[in-house]
Amino acid sequence: MKKLSIGSIQKRKGTFPLVMITAYDALFARLFSESADILLVGDSLNMSFGGNNDTLSATMEQMIYHTQAVCKGAPETFVITDMPFGTYTEKATALSNALRIYRETPADAIKIEGGADKAYLVKHLVDNGFAVCGHIGLLPQAVRAEGGYKVKGKSEEEALSLIADAQAIQQAGAFILVIEGVKADVAARVAQSVSIPVIGIGAGNGVDGQVLVFSDMLGLYEPFVPKFVKQYMNGAVSVKEATKTYANEVQNRSFPDENYVY
Ligand code: KIV
Repeated sequence: MKKLSIGSIQKRKGTFPLVMITAYDALFARLFSESADILLVGDSLNMSFGGNNDTLSATMEQMIYHTQAVCKGAPETFVITDMPFGTYTEKATALSNALRIYRETPADAIKIEGGADKAYLVKHLVDNGFAVCGHIGLLPQAVRAEGGYKVKGKSEEEALSLIADAQAIQQAGAFILVIEGVKADVAARVAQSVSIPVIGIGAGNGVDGQVLVFSDMLGLYEPFVPKFVKQYMNGAVSVKEATKTYANEVQNRSFPDENYVY
């Protein structure tokens, strides 16, 4: 599949849903690239791959390393890289860290979390030549500040605030927006309130595309399965069964048999 341009991504607004999946390495990126429009090197890698409880300790070095791997595995797929927590606290920091991502990886765009309060940062990055993906609603990087992962859009006040967030991020120049953990009817209103594509995660079907964390989508991550996650395979079961069979065959010396020797 040929890499989508920002223009062709934006033309998908309100038409054919965009498919986004997280990817953290070349192996899976290559497999996903056959079906995904966009790969997201999400800082969620700090949880499923890093074994941490949240995304907050992800570093620039990790994001750069994983983005390089993803881009090598899927050179023809549009790649967005998450800017980790604490790397865009003000304009100068945001710019120097975004520059590192563009200089040290071929990522096509960067993503930062936050609504209207972060619009000035989005604008600064866009003004300096970056393609920026916004991220509103439930913000994983705010988990400690908010004391948990809280679904948003439960009141009319929250709905209006999300619409204001989306419009501010669009106004600041973001070309696409992720909306996470928002009541489906509110997410649909948000999507209708802007002209950029809105990609949902735990935000229902009234948006312009979907993103899932790949280890959730493949049923590989067992510690916690959010309600919105559909597991498209029993990855954890398959991996454990295969490993057990391998272990048994090593232990009873049935592997390697004559088919697997030089
Ligand atoms: O880090 C990530 O994987 C993300 C998705 C949850 C959208 O930001």
